[in-house]
Amino acid sequence: MPRLDDVLARLEADEKAGLDRLMDWLRIPSVATDPAHAEDTRRAARWCADRLREAGIDATVEETGTPDKPGAPVVWAQHAGAPGYAGPHVLFYGHYDVQPPDPLDLWESPPFEPVVKPAEPGGPGERVVARGAVDDKGQVSTFLDAVRAWKEAAGGVPVRFTVLIEGEEESGSVNLERFIESRASDLKQCDVALISDTGMPSPTQPGITYGMRGLVYTEIFLHGADQDLHSGLWGGRAPNPNSELVKVLAQLWDDDYRVTIPGFYDDVLPLADEEREEWRRLGFDQVEALRKIGLGPEADVGEAGYSAIEREWARPTAEINGISGGYTGPGAKTVIPAVAGAKVSFRLVADQRPERIRDAFFAWLTECTPKGCRWEFVDHGGGPPGNVARDSAHLQAARRALAGAAGGTEPVLIKSGGSIPVVGMLKEKLGLDTILMGFGLDDDRVHSPNEKFELDCWRLGRRAHTRLIGEFAGAD
Ligand code: BES
Ligand code: MN
Ligand code: MN
Repeated sequence: MPRLDDVLARLEADEKAGLDRLMDWLRIPSVATDPAHAEDTRRAARWCADRLREAGIDATVEETGTPDKPGAPVVWAQHAGAPGYAGPHVLFYGHYDVQPPDPLDLWESPPFEPVVKPAEPGGPGERVVARGAVDDKGQVSTFLDAVRAWKEAAGGVPVRFTVLIEGEEESGSVNLERFIESRASDLKQCDVALISDTGMPSPTQPGITYGMRGLVYTEIFLHGADQDLHSGLWGGRAPNPNSELVKVLAQLWDDDYRVTIPGFYDDVLPLADEEREEWRRLGFDQVEALRKIGLGPEADVGEAGYSAIEREWARPTAEINGISGGYTGPGAKTVIPAVAGAKVSFRLVADQRPERIRDAFFAWLTECTPKGCRWEFVDHGGGPPGNVARDSAHLQAARRALAGAAGGTEPVLIKSGGSIPVVGMLKEKLGLDTILMGFGLDDDRVHSPNEKFELDCWRLGRRAHTRLIGEFAGAD
């Protein structure tokens, strides 16, 4: 059995080259949701498969979707591990698609021209800035580099694993369920999934995420007249879909920020006192977090009776993500639009089911249909909440690997308000638990202009994955 220290030394020697590789990947604008980037998206998948092949892993690029409506491909690989390997069969999941870079004018450097920015005096360290830097190419690269280091220092990766790196996570993983079903017999061989697509408290405080919220993403349209109308001639005489839509949506919350849809909280479990106490001890500073996004303490708004961290990790929410209708160009135009639309999403917790919440929302809207108007509903997908084991042997291995990579600092157990659809899918379809070992920070500007990944976090991720492979293989 090769010595872990040799592999870690190889990993460190490869650091500069590893960063260059990541920058190459970040140069590919794999905005999968935008058909104009379909070829770039494919290129990003091939790039990833090529890097795995260089590390001795026989990766392929697999089509998803249907022939008339192809999805973004999945990077897929199966690796047997060392002869006599007795550890778990690990499913490594990640995503190579990225969010659209808009609004472009707020980027300090172009989103697909990655730059390494030096430490600011007194500020945090060097970071790589680009769309996808931390979500999720940068985090996936920490796994790719670990695999490469094992190959180069030890002749191969001792662990048995399967790789599934998809290209539609940022648009709801709509083709993934079918892909997973088509590979179910292979995936059933896996014992645990490993995902690096979440965050940690600080560059020196590693964390393991044991729960994420689920998501329902809908779009609704309220139709009025069959044409746009002059608001002087028709205002007061016919319904205005813009005005009626906002009147309905304003009723989605009560004064305590509780969602008013009947049955919405039916499958939400009350928070256990011990869990609340454990989270309180993490010492999360909401006032400081608000300050970092330009807000004062009075902006600590949300469901009454819960702390900010409880609201993010354990309470469901409703959000209007977009709203449109009528004239939104420069200057004034007196118009009553024929239609108004809104993108409305819900974050789910505990036993809430996406289909039930979606149906309850649409039923509630139908119940409140404004006179003379009609609704049109679209479901953009999502997934159930992802709650994973806190105490499995696999999680213990990840804890040891992370602590070792962080110079002995024990990781804390955290949750996240974000969603990764595959986590719930793997649990429901295959009974697979996931280890969420993430390296992002709260201020990484995920999905926003100037997204970045701190190099210290990236390095921690590379070491942690290298050590975790060693843990599973029983290396010393
Ligand atoms: N990696 C994120 C989720 C995340 C970000 C978790 C930061 C923890 C910390 C993931 O790529 C994401 O953005 N998910 C989407 C869901 C998707 C269906 C659009 C989300 O949570 O909005
Ligand atoms: Mn992600
Ligand atoms: Mn994302």
